[in-house]
Amino acid sequence: MSTEAQPGTVTIEQVDPAATYDLRARVLRPGRPVQITGDDAPFTLHLAARTGDGEVVGVVRFHPQDCPWQVAEAAWQLRGMATDPRVRGLGAGRALVAEGLSRVVARGGDLVWCDARASAVGFYQRIGFTVVTEPYDLRPVGPHLGMVVELPIR
Ligand SMILES: CC(C)(COP(=O)(O)OP(=O)(O)OC[C@H]1O[C@@H](n2cnc3c(N)ncnc32)[C@H](O)[C@@H]1OP(=O)(O)O)[C@@H](O)C(=O)NCCC(=O)NCCS
Repeated sequence: MSTEAQPGTVTIEQVDPAATYDLRARVLRPGRPVQITGDDAPFTLHLAARTGDGEVVGVVRFHPQDCPWQVAEAAWQLRGMATDPRVRGLGAGRALVAEGLSRVVARGGDLVWCDARASAVGFYQRIGFTVVTEPYDLRPVGPHLGMVVELPIR
């Protein structure tokens, strides 16, 4: 990739799961299988942020899944959230989640939840999620907190 990614230069698009694997492997799951259960399920939505030259610099996935902590008619889980270290803080993560939430609403979803790594809680809070649990351990990563956002965001 060019190292010149600038704010506003990424585009968000729906992709096949395989397009997310390289970034997942590098950022999120080093030494672990890149695939997550349900990647190929028909309703699973994979999004990627691409620079102008087509490089994937951010990924996320959403799939229908009941929320462990909050009752909802149609809950979806966010997983596999990662951006390339070279574009952090430039808005790619926010753009990915915003597009995902919009698409989840279009599919009838009324809540999105995630197991947020403790180090990423601030990011999710910035984009509208709320912490709803105490910290819990998810191996091999470590401490996580349950977070939710009710949809549509008003
Ligand atoms: C967490 C992550 C996805 C954020 O991606 P990003 O591209 O840097 O996010 P953005 O640039 O869109 O950030 C949106 C806002 O959140 C803030 N932010 C980003 N990461 C943050 C963090 N870890 N803690 C607190 N705030 C954070 C940004 O400063 C920005 O603030 P602003 O509203 O003032 O502009 C990225 O740091 C990452 O891939 N981390 C490693 C993998 C990971 O932890 N994934 C989540 C697993 S649950």
